[in-house]
Amino acid sequence: MPIWAKKAQRINQRKLALPVQAGNLRIRWASCLCVEREGVQRVALLEVSEISVQFGGIRALDDLSFTMDEGQILGLIGPNGAGKTTLFNVVSRIYDPTAGSVTFDGQDLLAMSAHEISRVGVYRTFQNLALWPGMSVIENVMVGDHTNTKANVISSALRLPSMRKEENELRDRAWAALEEIGLQDVAYHPAAGLPFGTLKRIELARALIANPRLIMLDEPASGLTHQEVDSLAQDIKGLRDRHNLTILLVEHHMRMVLGISEKLVVLNFGRKIADGDPDVVRNDPEVIEAYLGSS
Ligand SMILES: Nc1ncnc2c1ncn2[C@@H]1O[C@H](COP(=O)(O)OP(=O)(O)O)[C@@H](O)[C@H]1O
Ligand SMILES: [Mg+2]
Repeated sequence: MPIWAKKAQRINQRKLALPVQAGNLRIRWASCLCVEREGVQRVALLEVSEISVQFGGIRALDDLSFTMDEGQILGLIGPNGAGKTTLFNVVSRIYDPTAGSVTFDGQDLLAMSAHEISRVGVYRTFQNLALWPGMSVIENVMVGDHTNTKANVISSALRLPSMRKEENELRDRAWAALEEIGLQDVAYHPAAGLPFGTLKRIELARALIANPRLIMLDEPASGLTHQEVDSLAQDIKGLRDRHNLTILLVEHHMRMVLGISEKLVVLNFGRKIADGDPDVVRNDPEVIEAYLGSS
């Protein structure tokens, strides 16, 4: 499809309401003129194409390609050292790949800096918690939005009225995010001393106020109890449902991954060994041997 046609389709997809089913033909968007056969002309939100990353003699990613549809939860799994965090670091613009391309909503992500991707709606959490222990929960959430605020360093230092207004609006949005995740009771508690499961949920609230379209979660369930894992999984799914988020989930906790993912991508030594429906992928002999069987 030519680029102009892709662009027009994306604009229509964003503006318009739900798809309408019509036999095996699908009219994708109610007022869109494009009628297509099921499965054809699907435009991915995230497209990772032939990405390779080399660290000295180690090939951390080897010709990796996969796509994500808008609103999808995709589980990216694989043994330790398979390249999952490296992929996050490429997409979130911490590493430059040696080859390949990444597009997000048709835009070249590799041409953007780590700062710029938050403006187009890409947000990631880190494998190790990145919260400020001495700050209150609500302040930790407000930090999530600092790239969007118009208040510059000078107005912030002088505490100009325009800055105070922005800060109040930000606080209101942070409060709404905490309410949505059920954390309003600890809003003014310092992050330090709260249970690990609560800290993980604060990270989700922080992600939410950055107005993300794609959230990448790196091992959000690590260190959680079974009960905390289940409640985090429900939080993630609920956020996706309410905000039509697209979620790239790296996680070892298989019950969580299989419970909420609609697509699985499996890596082993930087190479993709399976990609598709979780029920099919989990029974793939190569996947079982590389990963599931040994976990
Ligand atoms: N900054 C780096 N420098 C050198 N090697 C790295 C770096 N980051 C990752 N690696 C290597 O790349 C491979 C993939 O690592 P990583 O992406 O962290 O795996 P995963 O997240 O799947 O456990 C590993 O062999 C790791 O040692
Ligand atoms: Mg990792």
